[in-house]
Amino acid sequence: MDDKTTGTKTKPLYKQIAEQIEQRISSGEFGPGSSLPSERSLAKELGVNRSTIVAAYDELQAAGIVERRQGSGTLVSQDIWGLARTRVPNWRHLTETGSFRPNLPLIRKIRRETQENELIDLASGELSPDLVPRDTLRQLISPDDFPAHLGYEHPQGNWSLRETLGRHMQEWRSIEAPATSIMITSGAQQALHLVVQCLLKPGDAVAIETPSYCHSLPLFHSAGLRTFSLPVERHGIDPNQLAELHRKHRIKMVFLNPNFQNPTGTLLSLARRKQLLAFSAENGIPIIEDDPYSLTAFSKEPIPTLKSLDKHGTVLYISSLTKIVASGLRIGWIVGPQTVIERLADAKQQFDFGHSIFPQWLADRFLASAEFARHVDRLRTQLALRHDQLFFSLQETFGEQVDMAGAQGGIHLWCRFAGTWSEQQLLTEAVKRGVVFVPGHLFGAAPGHVRFTFGRASLGQIPAAVERFAEAFTASG
Ligand SMILES: Cc1ncc(COP(=O)(O)O)c(C=O)c1O
Repeated sequence: MDDKTTGTKTKPLYKQIAEQIEQRISSGEFGPGSSLPSERSLAKELGVNRSTIVAAYDELQAAGIVERRQGSGTLVSQDIWGLARTRVPNWRHLTETGSFRPNLPLIRKIRRETQENELIDLASGELSPDLVPRDTLRQLISPDDFPAHLGYEHPQGNWSLRETLGRHMQEWRSIEAPATSIMITSGAQQALHLVVQCLLKPGDAVAIETPSYCHSLPLFHSAGLRTFSLPVERHGIDPNQLAELHRKHRIKMVFLNPNFQNPTGTLLSLARRKQLLAFSAENGIPIIEDDPYSLTAFSKEPIPTLKSLDKHGTVLYISSLTKIVASGLRIGWIVGPQTVIERLADAKQQFDFGHSIFPQWLADRFLASAEFARHVDRLRTQLALRHDQLFFSLQETFGEQVDMAGAQGGIHLWCRFAGTWSEQQLLTEAVKRGVVFVPGHLFGAAPGHVRFTFGRASLGQIPAAVERFAEAFTASG
């Protein structure tokens, strides 16, 4: 079974309206230079929000079909039939036909809502401002050791940071990684992108967890890969199912987030880790261990990363500072055999000529300082408190209506709510009440699931968020 990217199959409303207007223009109902109905009156006529009409008109303007003039409203372009000597390119068509696919519409909507409105954010996969060690980072910026050279960095990233990361990985993740085997990327996301672009080709079969963060990423489908699902169970994916998929489809690579998985919070069991590594080594199938979360474990017990157990060199390890320091630093890294790292670094150089020195410089200072351990300690305590606050608030409010296993680390809580309700409608009702979450289908889950992120909101906001969500749930039931 080829799992196509999940998401709304129907076009967003504003696009449908833009197409209707375009048809009315081409049928001659509105001639070149004529005025289109005002945003307000068209919204009323069609029974939609004015913002939907604004988006539809923006769309037509970008395609060169209408012009918008201060005081005159929206007019059909004079040049709509291509009579004038100049012609506006069909930007809309161009934006829809490029090979790199856009984000899923609902993901774009959630991002818009969190950026534009004052909502309690239980959707964005990052830390709340009070969990980011801002003061410490500020103190580490000393004009005296301002980077000496502001030229292009080495395509694998700053040498000093790579050395620091090598020590960090030894100490915190039991991973041996010399600086030559590390490459710095713009978050874990860029490392995933580089792997997909450089090590795979259209038509290749890859296995990904379901549900998973990967389901929300169009980058696999943009690269023409065929994705196959490995269901995430209580103890993570079942290596026997991977073997089965491999028999049927010749799996070329496996993408896993085995430590506090996004969205389920699951930890892959040690037995399954070992079985998986044995299968990977027997069949020469690389495992991409995407691990932004292992240091967020609520307890201090070390997590046996796949890479730390990898005796045969079949694992490429990816991590970042997003979930443990700050998402805006855009510091991620990948560890692997030198041939692979050099290939990826060559591609990164072509994409962006290497990573900016400033975040690398800051990350180096922070990871090498004694403050890092203190910060991780505090972070773990704070995340555990937020997790418990959310878990118990949901339990108290929803009782048997909510099913959740809880997490022992990470920043996400995965829930299933009883009854039949529409994810889209629940999200709309929740946004109206000032709270936002991510519907489960965006991760490829069966209906009825919701992902709440407890790392982004403050502890004090969580009870109010649950209350608002409960009202939305009642309204959409
Ligand atoms: C599993 C997983 N991988 C990768 C990323 C990308 O993170 P970043 O690029 O900010 O490091 C995320 C972010 O949500 C994630 O959850």
